Amino acid sequence: ADPASEDSMTILGVLGGSGVYDIAGLKNAAWRRVSSPFGETSDEFLFGELDGLEVVFVPRHGRGHRHTPSSINYRANIDALKRVGVTDLLSVSACGSLREDLPPGRFVVVDQFVDRTITREKSFFGEGLVGHVSMAHSTCGRLAQAAYECARTAEIPVTLGGTYLAMEGPQFSSFAESRIYRSLGCEVIGMTNMPEAKLAREAEICFLTVAMVTDFDCWHPDHAHVQVSDVVRILEENAEKAKLLVRMLAPRLRDTRPIPCPAGCDRALDHALITAPG
Ligand code: ADE
Repeated sequence: ADPASEDSMTILGVLGGSGVYDIAGLKNAAWRRVSSPFGETSDEFLFGELDGLEVVFVPRHGRGHRHTPSSINYRANIDALKRVGVTDLLSVSACGSLREDLPPGRFVVVDQFVDRTITREKSFFGEGLVGHVSMAHSTCGRLAQAAYECARTAEIPVTLGGTYLAMEGPQFSSFAESRIYRSLGCEVIGMTNMPEAKLAREAEICFLTVAMVTDFDCWHPDHAHVQVSDVVRILEENAEKAKLLVRMLAPRLRDTRPIPCPAGCDRALDHALITAPG
């Protein structure tokens, strides 16, 4: 496709988790409500421009952290992001670490999920129109490579690839659960990136989770000695690094978006099994 055509315009969506409630340095920044037939989004969306790239930011818990992981209206958020033209969606989220070599402060560019959430609406399909998209490769490889390289350049400690276990919460895991998740081969654990990844795939939006380690989950011998003040400090430092990562990504995504997406995210429904209403 012609890179100058309307179709190839990138609009970057950013879903911010705990500690990330805005994006620094946006030009022409404005909070605006976006409506969706799926209901209320987490908050107004923050629109602006970063290095010539259009950016739309969503605080997934709402400003003031009002929504729990289970009460977030994930479908409204993703549907509204699609409606405003978001092509590439970066989710930056706090997580726990299930591995010794992923200490607090490290970013993990996630490429797989294990979804153990149980109370959430996870699909735009339903009665009347049944569809099954592939989640085999759950995140966009192009966005992953870009985020990884930008994090490296910014000297943010980062690991490329990792499995994110999504739990329902809001309570943290028991010791037995934490050990089971480790034995399953998962690297990080969080409460929000499912069903975001599934809904983004159905919406044909390129999606990437960058999980920011705030703590070792309870499997770790140090866990019992961690002070809340330590976790808060790490959360704040991670939030600053996340904002830096978004600033680094903007010029890179603006200049390099290939059409079609080599990972196929923008054509997910072409290969989905969809049963038209009889
Ligand atoms: N978010 C941050 N730390 C977490 C943990 N240990 N488990 C689940 N979600 C988290």
